[in-house]
Amino acid sequence: MSDLRVLIVCLGNICRSPMGESVLRDVALKRGVSIVVDSCGTAAYHAGEDPDGRTVSTCKKHNVPINHSARQIQTSDFTEFTHILAADESNLRNLERIKPKNTTAEVQLWGSYLDNKPIPDPYYGGMNGFEEVYQQCIALSNSFLDKVVGET
Ligand code: 4NP
Repeated sequence: MSDLRVLIVCLGNICRSPMGESVLRDVALKRGVSIVVDSCGTAAYHAGEDPDGRTVSTCKKHNVPINHSARQIQTSDFTEFTHILAADESNLRNLERIKPKNTTAEVQLWGSYLDNKPIPDPYYGGMNGFEEVYQQCIALSNSFLDKVVGET
C-alpha cells in the first residue's frame, strides 16, 4: 500500500474533485511520487455518474487521463486515506461534522497547502470556470507534494 493516500472532496464529485484527483495523480506521476488518489462528494446526488463533460474536456485538452465514477464519502475513508482534502469551506465543514472519532486522516482545505483559497464551484458557469479549476488544481497539486514529500 502506498504511504500517501489522498482523497479529494467536493460537493457532487462530478466537477472539481474528479479533476483534482486526475491532476494530482498526473502531477505525482510526472514527479515520480508514489501515491494513491481518489475523489468523492459530500453529497450523493450524482453517485454512479461519470464526471461532468466540461471536466472531461478540460482534462483531455491538457492530456490528463480521467476516469471516475462519482461516489459519496463513507466512514471508512477517514481511516483509509492519509489526507482528505476539501475543495471549499462548505465541504470542509461537512467533513468535520461527519468525521468519526477514530479518524486518522488529516482533514484540511486543499488550499491550506498554498493560499487558503477555496476552489470555486464551476457547475453553474461556463467553460472558463473549468479551466480556472484546472489551473488551480495544478498549483494545489504541486504545493501539496512540495509540502508532504519535499521537492522531488
Ligand atoms: P462539484 O460541482 O461539487 O465540483 O462536483 C457540483 C456538481 C453538482 C452540483 C453542485 C456542484 N449540484 O448541485 O448538482
